[in-house]
Amino acid sequence: MKPLGLGILGSGKGSNCRAILESIRAGSLPARACVVISDVFDAPILEIAREFSVPNAYLPPGQFRTRLDLEAETELVRMLQDVKVELVVLAGFMRVLKSPMLEAFPRRIINIHPSLLPKFPGLEAWKQALAVGETGTGCTVHYVDEKIDHGDIIAQREVPVLPNDSAETLHARIQSAEHQLYLAVIAQLCAERSAQPRSAL
Ligand code: GRF
Repeated sequence: MKPLGLGILGSGKGSNCRAILESIRAGSLPARACVVISDVFDAPILEIAREFSVPNAYLPPGQFRTRLDLEAETELVRMLQDVKVELVVLAGFMRVLKSPMLEAFPRRIINIHPSLLPKFPGLEAWKQALAVGETGTGCTVHYVDEKIDHGDIIAQREVPVLPNDSAETLHARIQSAEHQLYLAVIAQLCAERSAQPRSAL
């Protein structure tokens, strides 16, 4: 099976990225990390990429807070295409992607979110679940479209909310489910790609 070329984008601590890179290194995920890119200069996710000897780059995001400016997003497309990325994996990337990326990678961008979407889109979804007294929550992997935490759902995993949960304990439980779910979905997309014609995932 030809390894699927991944481009991983993140803004933060990179625990999902680490899980992916560990799985590739262990030979259990038939993928290749082409590049890790962050909009945050000193994001730990870039340090993780260096630890795994994966090419990595800081992308100056431009003047906006929640999205990339047009030049930056166009540059992002170029960087990903240059290294032949086939699947863009958002791993805590805190900016909304717009048409340059969505048009360059149609149905080739996936995101993971810490809730059972469509419940609790947006920031700190585990706190939203706690605040309304949910007894269960989870995580979701979905294709990325122009809306925030929206797009066709690929897979979900349920996580219980325990009676004494704090935001921290619940978040940790969700993150460990995220790592398993993201690996399972990427593995599934790798398998589907090898079963299909060259251009389809
Ligand atoms: C994850 O909880 C993911 O659901 C959300 O951002 C977080 C990234 O965590 N989109 P990490 O940087 O992978 O640890």
